[in-house]
Amino acid sequence: MNRLTDKVAIITGAGSGIGRSAAELMGAQGARVVVADHDTASAEDTARAVEEAGGQALPYTVDVMDDTSVGDMVEAAVRAFGRLDVLCNHVGGTNPRKDLDLLRLDMDEFGRAVDLNVRSTLTGSRHAVPHMIQAGGGSIINTASVAGLVGDVLQISYGAAKAAVVNITQSIAVQYGPQGIRCNAVAPGTIMTPALLNNLPAEVIEALKGYNSLPYLGAPKDIGHTMVFLASDESRYLTGQLLVVDGGMTSRSPAVPGRRAMLPTE
Ligand SMILES: NC(=O)c1ccc[n+]([C@@H]2O[C@H](COP(=O)([O-])OP(=O)(O)OC[C@H]3O[C@@H](n4cnc5c(N)ncnc54)[C@H](O)[C@@H]3O)[C@@H](O)[C@H]2O)c1
Repeated sequence: MNRLTDKVAIITGAGSGIGRSAAELMGAQGARVVVADHDTASAEDTARAVEEAGGQALPYTVDVMDDTSVGDMVEAAVRAFGRLDVLCNHVGGTNPRKDLDLLRLDMDEFGRAVDLNVRSTLTGSRHAVPHMIQAGGGSIINTASVAGLVGDVLQISYGAAKAAVVNITQSIAVQYGPQGIRCNAVAPGTIMTPALLNNLPAEVIEALKGYNSLPYLGAPKDIGHTMVFLASDESRYLTGQLLVVDGGMTSRSPAVPGRRAMLPTE
């Protein structure tokens, strides 16, 4: 209940899915949470849920594609709560209908992928770091993806952008470690967010389970709990790292289905 007492955290994209879960879990651990999202109603809804559970939250409307809006968000957090300890640069994604393979990629979507995933992470961190230095340190948590670790047949921009997020994470850790700022990234595998549930047919979701080592898919709270750990002082010696939270999807050999057939039947 008090793993984050006295800490002030901003979470972007906290109106829905993983970000909402992280906000609720951080609030439940005593953090004061700025619930930032470009969808005002969903930010307010998450903030209400945090407060109903006994936490403290400030809903904030932000567009992470707009540098000024991101700067205003950080200033509003410090104005409201007096300091800043944690920033989750969580918004990201691309449009899979436009972000295709190399030759069929919409180049405007590539630019959008860089802005939404990479530039937003840089901008958020640039605004947050001076306040964290003032607070004596802090924790930046960036959302990457398993899509940034391996090649794929589509979403070439998404993979490239998330790979860049990992490298930025390492650079921030190196550059501001001496001032007590930690910077880590989380790479979720398949997580059952409302966005995923609404966009994929049930049989596709069922098939996705077959790629994991564990016999189930992730829930938003699986990433939320990881973020609570990274936000807390329990992870004080952990920086510049990527935590892959994917049910074992990327740690298993792609040959597993064939090799399973080679096992003796009894
Ligand atoms: N769900 C998964 O399986 C999965 C897997 C790997 C990585 N991720 C990453 O997790 C993050 C969020 O994914 P999710 O599934 O929770 O998504 P989601 O769609 O459930 O939530 C995203 C939130 O971000 C907000 N948002 C979108 N654009 C914004 C902008 N420009 N400014 C401010 N807010 C904006 C939306 O309103 C929404 O509330 C992304 O970075 C995504 O790449 C998700």
